[in-house]
Amino acid sequence: MVKIVCSAAVNGIDGFLVSVECVYASNVREKMEIIGLPDTAIREAEGRVRAAAASCNLPIMHGLLTVNLAPASQKKEGTGFDLPILLSVLDTDKLGSINLGGKCFVGELSLTGEIKPVCGVLSMALAAKELGFREIFVPYDNAAEASIARGINVIPVRNLKELMNHLKGIETIEPKKLSMKELQEIAALDTLDFCDVKGQDDAKFALEIAAAGFHNVLMIGPPGSGKSMLAKRLPSIMPRMTLNDAIESTRIHSVAGTLPSNTPLITSRPFRSPHHTVSAAGLAGGGKYPLPGEISLAHNGVLFLDEFPEFDKTTTEILRQPMEDGKVTITRVSGRVTYPCNFMLVAAMNPCKCGYYGHLTKACICSPAARLSYMNKISGPLLDRIDIQIEVQSLEFATLSSESGAEKSADIRQRVSAARAYAAKRFEFETVNGKPLLFNSQMQAEHVKRFCMPTQKGIELLKKAYDSLGLSARGYDKILKLARTVADFDNSEMLTEDHILLAIQLRTLDRNYWGK
Ligand SMILES: Nc1ncnc2c1ncn2[C@@H]1O[C@H](COP(=O)(O)OP(=O)(O)OP(=O)(O)O)[C@@H](O)[C@H]1O
Ligand SMILES: [Mg+2]
Repeated sequence: MVKIVCSAAVNGIDGFLVSVECVYASNVREKMEIIGLPDTAIREAEGRVRAAAASCNLPIMHGLLTVNLAPASQKKEGTGFDLPILLSVLDTDKLGSINLGGKCFVGELSLTGEIKPVCGVLSMALAAKELGFREIFVPYDNAAEASIARGINVIPVRNLKELMNHLKGIETIEPKKLSMKELQEIAALDTLDFCDVKGQDDAKFALEIAAAGFHNVLMIGPPGSGKSMLAKRLPSIMPRMTLNDAIESTRIHSVAGTLPSNTPLITSRPFRSPHHTVSAAGLAGGGKYPLPGEISLAHNGVLFLDEFPEFDKTTTEILRQPMEDGKVTITRVSGRVTYPCNFMLVAAMNPCKCGYYGHLTKACICSPAARLSYMNKISGPLLDRIDIQIEVQSLEFATLSSESGAEKSADIRQRVSAARAYAAKRFEFETVNGKPLLFNSQMQAEHVKRFCMPTQKGIELLKKAYDSLGLSARGYDKILKLARTVADFDNSEMLTEDHILLAIQLRTLDRNYWGK
């Protein structure tokens, strides 16, 4: 007789059902054979299953146990199958009847029968719900995360003893439900606030525009001028994530194993700041069983590349395609997975090797050639994808020591959200590559033509700028897109002279530093 226990696994951030099927042949040597493309961790499950069963006095069938993980053609990984495998090999005749119908099980076993957390549980719970399961049994530490799925009973299990008592109806485990109150408590309070940053009004204004249009930003300035400080506070002025965005970000972090234990739902926009020595796989995703990289962990939030010129050019150029597509596909022997990666790129750098070129009081010791070679370390194609470039000057003492408070992030966020809402109406029926167009930075040439209409005076200013600043066609389009975002703050359909002037000011560094 074949015994079947349902479980789930993930491919990328999508969960799928796995049937754990077991047949046994008695009077043959004692062995467990696991088939259905398991990885090493799954092949080692036999040791954990037998030890856990023994320490909890649970009877296992004798003889040759063949355990198949169906669909057999799909590669499986991780330790989450320990629990369903154990349930499939239990000698139920000796146990008394337990009903496993309509239930799905996930969890790693310790040798003493404790049930330990695994990665990707939210995606598994969502898949189980879609497939019509009534209940999913998950490790206690994963239960809050799984309960975000809603519409399926999530039973948190600490150990085999509790599970068996529940299945036999001796002692019921209550399903985990996140109350509205708990959800509200999770609803992030951003710990970093723009009001901590003194002065730097131009930089803050530029970041406000960036947040509204989801424009990529480059900040150039001397050491200690507050670039990192500003970047870290950017998520606090971006509009709050929708529940769907929050769930998608949570699924990525859950699969990557980076979900903080006390955060079942990621409600703050992610901020990722990889070190400049990060590898291509670390940035874009990879590994034998491909895991999300920094660009996916930053999905819906900010990817901050500090000390930008120190990053390996070949590594950062990998970002080009994913930045256009909002997703990254990783191919490995073990399979192909796609992760979403819709992030805002914020890069920061010094203006030269010594850091003081253009400084108000300190002298720069770099030669012009050294300066140029420093700037040229940045990948041109990547620079092309950065709409806003700003200079962050070092602060004067009076500003730094002043007691007067700066504007709070919450107030800036309100303006940003209002500008976004205005843009959203315009983009209601628009798409890019089959996906809804959401932000000004995503506009294609045809959208720029339709939605970025300057007034007569605006056209005159653009003409002057085009001739005197030597703009390229690409630069011209970028100014229009930026002006569109500036105009959104005024709820203005047309791009006025003022909007265009501000947009031009947000892109002047090309010429100052690269002579473009
Ligand atoms: N505008 C500011 N308001 C308040 N404090 C500031 C400001 N700018 C800098 N500081 C102080 O200086 C410290 C360094 O700032 P930060 O790390 O952001 O500089 P940076 O521009 O990133 O420098 P680097 O180029 O060396 O990376 C901050 O931790 C903060 O204490
Ligand atoms: Mg810094």
